[in-house]
Amino acid sequence: MQNRETNMKYASEDLRNEHEGVLYGLAILEQMVRTVRLSGAADTSDIEDMINFLRLFADKCHHGKEEDFLFPAMEKAGIPNVSGPIAQMLAEHNQGRQYIAEMGASVADGNLQPDRFTKAAAVYIDLMRAHIEKENTVLFRVGDKMLPVQEQEHLLNQFEEFEEEVMGKGTHEKLHETLHSLENKYLKTK
Ligand SMILES: [Fe+2]
Ligand SMILES: [Fe+2]
Repeated sequence: MQNRETNMKYASEDLRNEHEGVLYGLAILEQMVRTVRLSGAADTSDIEDMINFLRLFADKCHHGKEEDFLFPAMEKAGIPNVSGPIAQMLAEHNQGRQYIAEMGASVADGNLQPDRFTKAAAVYIDLMRAHIEKENTVLFRVGDKMLPVQEQEHLLNQFEEFEEEVMGKGTHEKLHETLHSLENKYLKTK
């Protein structure tokens, strides 16, 4: 089944593109943290939109592709999971989930707890930037070398189906629009 209109060869290309989206979200989140630190307040619906992006795009979709498809394929090809680099990546995904939950709890009922939010967001940003760097420079390169062409193609197809399944049609675009408006508000106002 050849269903990619793009010319991607490696499964990691799709994931690297998503990393760019996540990093872009983190830059906006970082500015939100600065705003809250300076003023002690924030538009809680913006924070909720950001948390929704992180939950759906960064965690459910992106980490889902890694956990359900890429990592198992790499394990099958001989990369150890237990106490190896994959276990480390999985542990970081779980850690990230806890920080997202903590950010969510900091705006529960629309009332922002500023310190709770900024602390959780700051550690999440650091964790995810380092995590993405490790995947881009180490793990993905190993996967590119170890997995044959057909397996890469199969993974790309699985990613596409998975994305539609977990996000639903149009959700990707909607999330990008949301990020774009947050970018205009937080990164381009000064
Ligand atoms: Fe990851
Ligand atoms: Fe990743």
